[in-house]
Amino acid sequence: MPGVIIGVKELVVKVQFDDNPPELNELLEVLNDNKTRLMVEHFEDNQIAYCLNLNSDLSLKTGQQVEGTSQTIEIPVGDQIIGRVLDTFGQPLDGLEPVRDNVPKKSIHDYAKKSDQYKIAKPQIMETGIKVIDFFTPFVKGRKIGIIGGAGVGKTVLTMELINNTSKSSSSLSIFSGMGERIREGHELWLTLKENDLLKNSALFFAQTNENPIQRSLIGLTAATAAEYFRDNDKKDVLFFADNMYRYVQARNELSTVLEQVPNEGGYGATFFSDVKTLQDRLSSNENGSITSVQTIYVPADDITDPAVQMIQHEMDSIIVLSRKVAEQGIRPAVDLNSTSSSLLTPEIVGDRHYLLSIQVQALLKKYESLRSIIAIIGESELSPSDRADYNKAKRLITNFAQNLNVMNKLTGVKGEYFSLEETLKSIEEIIV
Ligand SMILES: Nc1ncnc2c1ncn2[C@@H]1O[C@H](COP(=O)(O)OP(=O)(O)OP(=O)(O)O)[C@@H](O)[C@H]1O
Ligand SMILES: [Mg+2]
Repeated sequence: MPGVIIGVKELVVKVQFDDNPPELNELLEVLNDNKTRLMVEHFEDNQIAYCLNLNSDLSLKTGQQVEGTSQTIEIPVGDQIIGRVLDTFGQPLDGLEPVRDNVPKKSIHDYAKKSDQYKIAKPQIMETGIKVIDFFTPFVKGRKIGIIGGAGVGKTVLTMELINNTSKSSSSLSIFSGMGERIREGHELWLTLKENDLLKNSALFFAQTNENPIQRSLIGLTAATAAEYFRDNDKKDVLFFADNMYRYVQARNELSTVLEQVPNEGGYGATFFSDVKTLQDRLSSNENGSITSVQTIYVPADDITDPAVQMIQHEMDSIIVLSRKVAEQGIRPAVDLNSTSSSLLTPEIVGDRHYLLSIQVQALLKKYESLRSIIAIIGESELSPSDRADYNKAKRLITNFAQNLNVMNKLTGVKGEYFSLEETLKSIEEIIV
């Protein structure tokens, strides 16, 4: 017997099944003219399915009948999606034909559990050409970098530069997941990739601000599904870029309010911890290949103690903190060097020379901070000669970590710069000796 809609609240539809209840995440079809698709979110008493109205069909009413489809959301995967821009359901957003029907498909909910046996092979560093990243937060295959900061501090620009520099120099495949950000950014990224002939090894997925929270909350899983396929079936190394991971939590949160779930501390939905974990666990490496990710994390109201920001940060191996204060000084990328950190900055991974330099640089930058407050009171001329020398070294270091980015070239007319790791290390040695 089909189920019956017994309640509709915004995008949540309650469906009662007297027998044969559907599975979790199963797609249901309303027996109306639109053949409206719903997705089972959770159950109450095994008989009432709380479902998500995937395409925001506003015509649903109580009493309408609903049938199971024995399917979940499936997207096309494999070579056919390379160069394409797709939505949460794998439908084209680039104005081209839909991806052909006879290609492999994969459910966005179906994924290989994290393999415990997998031992990460010798860490492999990929050069990004961006001094501040290569020096403070090495881009290591299979690991995660978070780019964190408030509105308009340069998260997207830095991500685009990373895509630009790393997809050019490596044989990897890049998957981009646009999550709840501005619509025009998708178009800009597509253009940048096209102009640099990088579409041939990229696939883009978008559910931006214009989409409903259901699609915004699923887009990360859709993009992860594509990445996992390339990793497991084609044994590829995948670069995964997500902008913006905070919007994923936010979209889930909008839904949990409608689902009447009791929020936990910080006002986030009850499942937010496991939501973040589920997606992060899928962005992992195994014996087939690697997924290296760069994820932007928006900081609401510049409040870095926000529980969602903290939780996502916790899942990262490296954190690049972008700061409004630094941006206001005209330094780009606007990285707060003292807050930026990485668990990968070890002698085993980066080697002794780089590691020892990083210790010296960090010490100088810390000293600079405290000297600055002293100078504000007594003036620079009162410092001891050695303090003054350190102060000036730190100042030069800070300037040294600024650089013009390639992706800003069109807007600013200033040519972008790429520095090899060797050039970066040398430039620092020249300052601190
Ligand atoms: N490295 C840079 N060099 C020059 N200008 C920059 C740089 N980074 C950012 N900008 C300027 O700042 C603007 C905002 O940057 P961006 O869009 O990357 O911010 P964001 O952190 O992604 O913001 P939001 O949280 O709103 O998405 C850019 O449009 C650009 O004008
Ligand atoms: Mg942005």
